[in-house]
Amino acid sequence: MKASAPGKVILFGEHAVVFGKPAIAAAIDMRIEVDCTPSSITLFNGLPVAQTNTPHAYHALRLSGKSGAEISVRSDIPAGAGLGSSAALAAALTASLNPEMKESEIASTAYKIELLSQKRASPLDTSAVVHGHAIYVSAGGREGTLWSVGNEEVRWEVSHLDIRALPIVIGYTGVPAATGPLVLRVRKMWERFPTVRLAIEEIGTITEEAVKLLPTGDLTALGRLMERNQKLLSVIGVGSPVVDKLLDAVRPLCYGAKLTGAGGGGSIIALTDKQEKVMEAIRQKGGIPYSCSLGAEGIRRVHEVRHTD
Ligand code: MEV
Repeated sequence: MKASAPGKVILFGEHAVVFGKPAIAAAIDMRIEVDCTPSSITLFNGLPVAQTNTPHAYHALRLSGKSGAEISVRSDIPAGAGLGSSAALAAALTASLNPEMKESEIASTAYKIELLSQKRASPLDTSAVVHGHAIYVSAGGREGTLWSVGNEEVRWEVSHLDIRALPIVIGYTGVPAATGPLVLRVRKMWERFPTVRLAIEEIGTITEEAVKLLPTGDLTALGRLMERNQKLLSVIGVGSPVVDKLLDAVRPLCYGAKLTGAGGGGSIIALTDKQEKVMEAIRQKGGIPYSCSLGAEGIRRVHEVRHTD
């Protein structure tokens, strides 16, 4: 069965969400498509599957209980760009290998795959790509919980969020970054430095303010919150010169901008009504701009009818 899942951007709250603080993520119109065919041998785009080089496929297959599958993957989400390629892969593999699973089960299985593959994670990315649209995730939850997902420390509630079509431009720095080591680095800083603990708390407060502001469409106020969130992301140690270079270039042209995802490279998002100019500014600094619409459809299955005559 074929399944596809979108990428995502995090509007507010990355890293703080790992500690149970609230975060907001939205699905974007870039997708990954996975096709799994039962087989006695296991191949991933024609190559053998191993825990070390294809951890997502390895764990997805193991968790599905299937003995083997030929897996083919096609993606237009750049890998390591902070745009949810690994969450989308985990979700699409799960949906494709387990045709009977409903969304909440796909979300919790995809989260397990992320956790096994990258060691540390919140369910923000995997839930965003399964549900699509936009979501709010926190340990406290809010009305209308879709599902809850946990590890041995935190249990998160996931709910649907209505967002207006926010005018966002994405800028990929071109420098891929691995999420697991960045999450570990923040954890170590959180253990050692009270300032980092305070910054994590404040990111949570900013996200709560953003949730209230989103329905008003007040871009100026939302932009200010993005700027504050970005400062705090630098305090917790996930900023980087390549990210700052893009942020400095787009800042005069937008309401606010910040990194999105794990940081340390990856991508920025800019809230702007000068899309073309922002895209050009990103290009000029060596980045790759994407004009994306938010709120894309989540996990999608394609049932193939195979004729045998
Ligand atoms: C990565 O896209 C988001 C982080 O908050 C990690 C996570 O939530 O798993 C940095």
